[in-house]
Amino acid sequence: MDPTRLSANGIALSQRRTLEDSYPVGPALELGIVIPTYNEIENILLLLATLEKTLRGIEWEVVFVDDNSPDKTAELIRFLGLTNRRIRVLERIGRRGLSSACIEGMLATPAPYIAVMDADMQHDESILPMMLERIKSENLDVLVGSRKIEGGSMGEFARKRVWLSDLGTRISKLVCRCDVSDAMSGFFLVDRAYFQQVAPRLTGAGFKILVDLLSSSPSPPRLGEVPYHFRNRQQGESKLDINVELEYLYLLVDKVIGKWVPTRFVIYVLVGTFGLLVHLGVLALLYYRGHADFTVSQVTATFTAMTINFLLNNVVTFRDRRLRGWRIVTGLLTFYLACSVGALMNVSLAKFLLDSHVVWYLAGILGMATSSVWNYGVNTVMTWRRSLLH
Ligand code: GDD
Ligand code: MN
Repeated sequence: MDPTRLSANGIALSQRRTLEDSYPVGPALELGIVIPTYNEIENILLLLATLEKTLRGIEWEVVFVDDNSPDKTAELIRFLGLTNRRIRVLERIGRRGLSSACIEGMLATPAPYIAVMDADMQHDESILPMMLERIKSENLDVLVGSRKIEGGSMGEFARKRVWLSDLGTRISKLVCRCDVSDAMSGFFLVDRAYFQQVAPRLTGAGFKILVDLLSSSPSPPRLGEVPYHFRNRQQGESKLDINVELEYLYLLVDKVIGKWVPTRFVIYVLVGTFGLLVHLGVLALLYYRGHADFTVSQVTATFTAMTINFLLNNVVTFRDRRLRGWRIVTGLLTFYLACSVGALMNVSLAKFLLDSHVVWYLAGILGMATSSVWNYGVNTVMTWRRSLLH
């Protein structure tokens, strides 16, 4: 193993010698492979068999990061790990998320180079030895497996997915600090020292771990790309759904403004603004068009807007803590309560400011702003409170 790599890994060669004097040290690990899994039990054996074959001659280990898959993927991996020290599983309970799984897996392996790939055989593991050679010899920070350069292909990926992937890559250029042909790729190698430097800045939301990594780099990374053919999933099904697109949006917003304002708060305010439109719409319909009593119209509009806001916040703003079943009812009640107190604060503060000779629109805006922060804070703590397992 290259001694400069060891020092990049935090242990200088001389220190390593001293270590070897104190206790026996085995051959140094070269490559850590991080594989996020959710319901992939049927792919594990085939995947491990192909890895064993292609990685002959390399000191490697694999860390599966499983989010408590109902199909018991983690149990199978633990069983295999009993007789093969290369195989480990990091199981997370009450959590979901591809990117955060990859990050935690990368932190769990001590290897100087880390590969990230999917469990479903869509990524071409046969090019891993060549990728390892290249990242070492060219001294790169990141080496991306790309489907979008000469020699690579999207395989039989559905047309809509290809289109989405191209769109995602184009958008990623807004935040990535480098030019990469396939930022949507979930197949790449990183250098440990580079990863450790970027790790504290990662957002960790959604599916797009590579975009997160590249856009969090303090300086443009030394980047390489190798082509590969994207294969069809072996077994099981894709976990991609509408949430994945939402999470991508969240990641982009976080990268652009997250340094200044909490992204969740910005989304909360956007949802609130939409609620204002709903309110006006309902009011117009009942009072202006339907000639209903103003108080009745206003109360109906308020409750409609609050309820829609609650539902939107539940699936978008607090999607990671989404309330289900009867908790939707209690959540809605605390949401009404928090918002009502917020409205009261809003009105009394604005009135007080107006009486203190603050110009009317400023008084109005300050009242609104205060109640937004209040509503957000109280609802974060009361309605969508974080619990360990749910
Ligand atoms: N731990 C964990 N938690 N793993 C997950 C989760 C999760 O919430 N969701 C998905 N995975 C695992 C899957 O088990 C699989 O090994 C891998 O992440 C990729 O998930 P797929 O469901 O197969 O995603 P895909 O094929 O639609 O998308 C993949 O390829 C895209 C290439 O266009 C992902 O790698 C995308 O990030 C990538 O953009
Ligand atoms: Mn897949």
